Amino acid sequence: MSDLLEDAEIVIVDDDDDFLDEAKRLFEGRVPTVRTLADAQRSVEEGNIDLVMLGPSFAHEGGLQGAGVLIEMDPDLAIVLVAGTITAPLLRSAMRAGLKDVIEAPLTLQSVADTIGQIDRKERRRRPAALPPEPYGAPREEGKVVTVMSAKGGSGKTVTATNLAMLLAARYDPARVCIVDADLQFGDVCLVLQLEPKLTIVNAAHELHRLDEPLLESLLTTHPSGLRVLAAPLEPAFADEISTAAMTEIITKLRSMFDYVIVDTASLLDELLLSLLERADQVLFVLDMDLPSVKNAKLALETLRLLKFPASKVQLVLNRSNARARLDEKEIERSLKLKISAAIPSDGMVPASINEGRPVVESAPKSRVAKGYESVYELVATRAKQDASGKAGRRRWKS
Ligand SMILES: Nc1ncnc2c1ncn2[C@@H]1O[C@H](COP(=O)(O)OP(=O)(O)OP(=O)(O)O)[C@@H](O)[C@H]1O
Ligand SMILES: [Mg+2]
Repeated sequence: MSDLLEDAEIVIVDDDDDFLDEAKRLFEGRVPTVRTLADAQRSVEEGNIDLVMLGPSFAHEGGLQGAGVLIEMDPDLAIVLVAGTITAPLLRSAMRAGLKDVIEAPLTLQSVADTIGQIDRKERRRRPAALPPEPYGAPREEGKVVTVMSAKGGSGKTVTATNLAMLLAARYDPARVCIVDADLQFGDVCLVLQLEPKLTIVNAAHELHRLDEPLLESLLTTHPSGLRVLAAPLEPAFADEISTAAMTEIITKLRSMFDYVIVDTASLLDELLLSLLERADQVLFVLDMDLPSVKNAKLALETLRLLKFPASKVQLVLNRSNARARLDEKEIERSLKLKISAAIPSDGMVPASINEGRPVVESAPKSRVAKGYESVYELVATRAKQDASGKAGRRRWKS
């Protein structure tokens, strides 16, 4: 068992023999099991219980409400539900009842260890005193939203956004970084991070009218690093179920929950992208090193200028900067009227990292291409410092 599992005092509650037998086998009899909430209450009274795991027979509104007595007894107690099928209404009832999480049955040691780890991280986030010091200046009241866009598909938005999020998670605090896959039809953030989300942004949009912090948190998928992901719809057809208003409301909520919200987008300069840009604190414009990309970027940037979008928010990230069909960087800057702020070289490790499901900043942190992603990270981190000290200033578009 992991350290976390060994350290936690757990009691399992259910009246189903099969579930209790399975749990006893899993924990090799080391975790006590009881049949009723009254028995669980006694265990809580008697010992230092950290975690109560409710079995599937509690997976309904009434069963979950009953668990409230345990929280009244000990507000620090963590209660989680083990359920056969996790649905958004069940999650909502669980969160309303004050539960910390819902785990899918059958239980595994890994799923229990992950849950304990997540509860631990959530607690750290809720207790500001226990947080590590903000490395880039004073703590921010609201998180920073960094939106990654490009004017042409396949430019490298998703690999840039995921490597940036991984770096922020590793160097800052993984529990305070979230990546949102706003490429609603063909989002592949989860593919790149080798995650299999059960719940997605579609659930968040459906629950919008009652979407509070615990419910939204429960819809996120956690990467092994601790980084949180709000996954894109599992099928392109579901994209229609997410309105622009819903998307912006979700981003606003995430900004109040996380210090960094990285938004990956689709290469479509539509209403959704424009409103995402409007809500961004910083926009990373990924530009591939080829002529069609430069042409499209020029048109997209012209549109942003016409819409009076603040130039100070946009930074150009040149991808595949060492590509064979090399264009002159000064020429690109002149044409786009924007300086190149960061550059990522072309490297076969990038497509390989997608197949492997491990971003290069994790699998090959010393590689040249990882250093390229670090230069992007520096832009985001430096701006955090500038923002905190109020020195960012307002840059104007050059005409
Ligand atoms: N620096 C790089 N070196 C080598 N290959 C790269 C690099 N950046 C991106 N790629 C490759 O280009 C392809 C497209 O990258 P990615 O999916 O990140 O682009 P995107 O802009 O998100 O595309 P889409 O518009 O389809 O969402 C991927 O196969 C990726 O491996
Ligand atoms: Mg993409």
